[in-house]
Amino acid sequence: MGSIPKNGTSDMITVLDVGSAKTIALICHAGENGLKYRGHGIAESRGSRKGVIVELDKATQAIQRAVDEAEKLAGCHVGNAVVAVAGSHIKGITSRAGITLGGRPREVEREDIRTAVEKARSVVLPADREIVHLLPQEFILDEQAGVRDPAGMMGRRLEVTLHMVTASSSAMQNVVTAANRAGIHIDNVVYEALMSADAVLRADEKELGVCLADIGAGSTDLIVYSDGMVAHSGVVAVGGDHFTNDVAVGLRTPIVAAEKIKKAFGHTVSSEVPEGDEIEVEAVGDRPSRLMPRRFMAEILEPRAEELCELVREHLRQAGVLELCNAGVVLTGGASRMRGLNEVFEKVMKKPVRVASPQPLLQLPDGLMEPEFATAAGLALYAHRTTMTRMVQEQQGFGAKVRTLLARLGA
Ligand SMILES: Nc1ncnc2c1ncn2[C@@H]1O[C@H](COP(=O)(O)OP(=O)(O)OP(=O)(O)O)[C@@H](O)[C@H]1O
Ligand SMILES: [Mg+2]
Repeated sequence: MGSIPKNGTSDMITVLDVGSAKTIALICHAGENGLKYRGHGIAESRGSRKGVIVELDKATQAIQRAVDEAEKLAGCHVGNAVVAVAGSHIKGITSRAGITLGGRPREVEREDIRTAVEKARSVVLPADREIVHLLPQEFILDEQAGVRDPAGMMGRRLEVTLHMVTASSSAMQNVVTAANRAGIHIDNVVYEALMSADAVLRADEKELGVCLADIGAGSTDLIVYSDGMVAHSGVVAVGGDHFTNDVAVGLRTPIVAAEKIKKAFGHTVSSEVPEGDEIEVEAVGDRPSRLMPRRFMAEILEPRAEELCELVREHLRQAGVLELCNAGVVLTGGASRMRGLNEVFEKVMKKPVRVASPQPLLQLPDGLMEPEFATAAGLALYAHRTTMTRMVQEQQGFGAKVRTLLARLGA
């Protein structure tokens, strides 16, 4: 390709968000002044359902189309990318383990931290399950809990609490295979909600305790932060597609038409829709379109919104993290744009709720500053940071890796 810069060299970063509704490829340039948007492409995600690939060829084509479009805008060729996965197969596990340093207190060395982390991560995972992220929550040195970096401190016993995001190996492998077939080498597979959290959550929310709910097409992916660390990750199997299906069944209209009117006129608080408003609803078969009260569609969407909020609350309660969310709930993902959804969440959760778009960190074009681009924006930030971390590791070894990771989580 002559002088065209090739992705995979240190200054170009490509990320892929293979969602249930759309596949995004985003190319950024990592320069001295941080990350800068270079180009993006979006393709309808045929071949994916509820966060997993069900038709490899279609998923490959969607990746190929999104990458082609992004390459044209960015004027570079993509060779490598980082990809995000989501869906009901994602499960968070928390594990605690420790090591004895000796009979008398001594200084904690980097090697001790490594051994404690290794011990905590070596839980037996069910077959077909892999660790996607290893997130230290805290170290406990003798009686002292809440230690973020114990290196150099004195003690007799070192324990660590680790949160591990795990995923189905085959679901992850299928995303990698689809990308490989589109000619893209995958450097890393990461969890969508963790990426979205990076793009939309503020440091003070993570400290105080917050739940991020990324409401996509197929699922709602959750991540809870407390004291600046990841306290929980999980998934609720309801997303925007369920709302669309309800509208299609309730108004007897094709799915494509239901999706369109849901986005244009949908509301999840029926009492807020003026009584006289009417919408044109396409009929199935060759029957003519009909005019229907807009409030009728809201009456279909409202119970589904309440169900979603109750499922999220119940999920958090069962995981024992509901009470940690002092800063409330932050909604992102395409379906968070549904009118009134934040009000329903506020009513059910009895906590503050806001709908968030990615922060304008990457000089993204205006059209990309919407909730459905949170994952892609967060992915770019993550890919940039891991590249930097890897460079530090190569220079300084594992100790620096743990220190950098902790500094990042505590930031
Ligand atoms: N303005 C809107 N009003 C209501 N729903 C919307 C709106 N815009 C998008 N959606 C819904 O958001 C969903 C798509 O969201 P998003 O693009 O975040 O999904 P995805 O990342 O592809 O899927 P997933 O994260 O589940 O894999 C669809 O169900 C779509 O109907
Ligand atoms: Mg998504």
